[in-house]
Amino acid sequence: MMKNNKIYIAGHRGMVGAAVWRALEAEGYTNLIGRTSAELDLRDQKAVTDFFEIEKPDVVIDAAARVGGILANNNYPYQFLMENMQIQNNLIDLSLKHDAKKFIFLGSSCIYPKQAPQPLKEDYLLTSSLEPTNEWYAIAKISGVKACEAIRKQFKKDFVSLMPTNLYGSHDNFDLQTSHVMPAMIRKFHDAKLAGDTPVTLWGSGTPMREFLHVDDMAKAVCFAMDNELPDNLYNVGTGEDLTIKNLALLIQEIVGHKGDIVWDSEKPDGTPRKLMDVDKLKSLGWQPSIDLKDGIMKTYHWFLENQDKYKQVKL
Ligand SMILES: NC(=O)c1ccc[n+]([C@@H]2O[C@H](COP(=O)([O-])OP(=O)(O)OC[C@H]3O[C@@H](n4cnc5c(N)ncnc54)[C@H](OP(=O)(O)O)[C@@H]3O)[C@@H](O)[C@H]2O)c1
Repeated sequence: MMKNNKIYIAGHRGMVGAAVWRALEAEGYTNLIGRTSAELDLRDQKAVTDFFEIEKPDVVIDAAARVGGILANNNYPYQFLMENMQIQNNLIDLSLKHDAKKFIFLGSSCIYPKQAPQPLKEDYLLTSSLEPTNEWYAIAKISGVKACEAIRKQFKKDFVSLMPTNLYGSHDNFDLQTSHVMPAMIRKFHDAKLAGDTPVTLWGSGTPMREFLHVDDMAKAVCFAMDNELPDNLYNVGTGEDLTIKNLALLIQEIVGHKGDIVWDSEKPDGTPRKLMDVDKLKSLGWQPSIDLKDGIMKTYHWFLENQDKYKQVKL
């Protein structure tokens, strides 16, 4: 890949897209382009066709998606299925038509079956049923993985899919209505600290185990896929290590400096007992994460403190 190749990062203002932009810039890539959803609605085939006609990117990184938690998936199944397919189909098909050198598709660990053995290997894709709460999103993402695989098989092109574990970092969503577990805990402990160390109530028992990867490590995985022609179509991206939600809470409490009690609301669901990625396939090629969880949370809390006006709101 040449450093002046034109690289289009779809979703460049999102948490992942912004991190990919920073990482590619740091690696010396000089010709990055991006469009906000207001400038280019990726669901609109005509608009995306016109954009590709004009820009003809050499590389396309798809970090654009309609994302959200269980509640949003449950309330808007059609949008989660259809909008994600529209976005990725337009990007994948036009990248093929315009002979892009490389296409990097970003999905999520929810593509794997609900009952798959842990840690999750790439081979477990489509071996049994999905988790029903996010199957709409998962089916859209699986169709993207399969479209890239079909293009590899039929046209021998470098279209590759990266499936990240839970990500966290700067530009995360700290809105308690829609946020993931890590930013929600940071926000709750911070607000409780300011309120005089009032108790913090967290969902479930604290026993489920989860894996977290800093978004800058994820962006380095995208750089790795840029700099190398990966031999297969699908790669997990994570740390390969997990911890209990309770230990995560204690770590965040210490970093934020909250001195009050933690109350576990056992009336609320725990979700899957464990969700851990097997990341040996990508690691065996030479990529590995470098940001330790504690350092990563400290960086994220720092970003949160400096960007109090930027909590993202879901637009559904
Ligand atoms: N966050 C995680 O923990 C996590 C974990 C695993 C995988 N991932 C994957 O990483 C990808 C990016 O996630 P993220 O967390 O960065 O999400 P995000 O912060 O919500 O960003 C999503 C981006 O998509 C763009 N977008 C959405 N709909 C669009 C449309 N119709 N037209 C054009 N752009 C559109 C948005 O653009 P505007 O800002 O301009 O509106 C936004 O910048 C997703 O595929 C997700 O599955 C994320």
